[in-house]
Amino acid sequence: MRVNSVFISGFLLASVALAGRPRSLRLNLVERSANDSSDGIEYGNWAGAVLHQANGTFKAVTGTVTVPDVWGPTNSSATVAVGIDGDTCPNFAMVQVGVTATVTTNGTNYQAWYRWNPTDWVFVDIPICARNVITLTLGIFDATSGFAIIENASTGQSVKEQVQAGSSGYPLCQQNAEWLLEDIFLNNTQVPLSNFSMVTFTDAKAFGKDGKIYTPQGAIIDDVEQDGQVLTSVSVNGSSVSINHV
Ligand SMILES: *[C@@H]1O[C@H](CO)[C@@H](O)[C@H](O)[C@H]1NC(C)=O
Ligand SMILES: *[C@@H]1O[C@H](CO)[C@@H](O)[C@H](O)[C@H]1NC(C)=O
Ligand SMILES: *[C@@H]1O[C@H](CO)[C@@H](O)[C@H](O)[C@H]1NC(C)=O
Ligand SMILES: *[C@@H]1O[C@H](CO)[C@@H](O)[C@H](O)[C@H]1NC(C)=O
Ligand SMILES: *[C@@H]1O[C@H](CO)[C@@H](O)[C@H](O)[C@H]1NC(C)=O
Ligand SMILES: *[C@@H]1O[C@H](CO)[C@@H](O)[C@H](O)[C@H]1NC(C)=O
Ligand SMILES: *[C@@H]1O[C@H](CO)[C@@H](O)[C@H](O)[C@H]1NC(C)=O
Ligand SMILES: *[C@@H]1O[C@H](CO)[C@@H](O)[C@H](O)[C@H]1NC(C)=O
Repeated sequence: MRVNSVFISGFLLASVALAGRPRSLRLNLVERSANDSSDGIEYGNWAGAVLHQANGTFKAVTGTVTVPDVWGPTNSSATVAVGIDGDTCPNFAMVQVGVTATVTTNGTNYQAWYRWNPTDWVFVDIPICARNVITLTLGIFDATSGFAIIENASTGQSVKEQVQAGSSGYPLCQQNAEWLLEDIFLNNTQVPLSNFSMVTFTDAKAFGKDGKIYTPQGAIIDDVEQDGQVLTSVSVNGSSVSINHV
């Protein structure tokens, strides 16, 4: 596992100050660690559903989610994301698109982004608030390029971005597809997880290279664990994934 440093202050300031700035802004990425357990659940900083298929399978992943209300101590945060890889691909190759909610002294800040591990987060300048219904989509052209879409499901307005491994990103395996509530790492430290209103991904689907459509049914379940405490519970029903704070 690779863990790069990032300054939480930088993330927060960048998040707060984004309005009126250029569309994207780069910061270092941080990564997860997950441990399999005898109950079949992986514990780490992801909660949700992770599909596993043969190398080279997944061409796209999508899910519609209501951006949660979050609350908790200042600087706690919670992130919703969909992604390809990050679990079993060598080097933690991974691409994700999502929204991070951070509790600040000035209320909660919502920041959309995409990232290609281990290159930096790229912030996307789209206004997002609690209870917005958004569709997050990733499409993969090949092991080093693809696109990310953040769509306002209420209006159909969307932002589409090219995503690329670039010179330092690792090539994907296209063998995991995931729908997640994440507790991010900043500065090598798992940030305190905010409490959050139930997160449900609907129309959660992944698309295989042969046109096959996968749902999260049968996926591996992940729960967030911090300081030895399991903080989430996950249920999967057909093409829905629900994550609760416990
Ligand atoms: C992040 O790490 C740097 C150096 O490793 C340290 O100086 C800084 O205080 C840390 N920031 C936070 C918010 O922990
Ligand atoms: C929140 O993070 C900021 C920036 O790193 C830091 O200055 C502040 O002390 C933190 N507040 C709390 C309550 O941890
Ligand atoms: C995973 O297991 C290793 C070895 O038992 C342990 O050091 C590490 O803290 C565990 N990580 C998590 C996220 O539980
Ligand atoms: C909170 O918002 C006010 C008004 O926008 C701003 O002046 C202040 O710097 C902000 N404080 C923090 C800690 O971000
Ligand atoms: C989606 O559209 C609604 C209605 O116009 C708006 O209130 C909300 O801020 C938009 N959300 C995003 C993420 O663009
Ligand atoms: C999957 O394929 C990639 C090349 O696309 C390769 O680098 C990687 O090692 C393979 N992973 C596994 C687990 O076989
Ligand atoms: C999180 O919020 C839920 C719903 O309000 C509540 O049941 C739960 O006790 C809270 N958990 C923590 C650790 O505050
Ligand atoms: C699963 O989804 C089906 C169809 O949407 C619904 O009828 C059923 O009640 C759900 N089951 C659970 C346990 O939520």
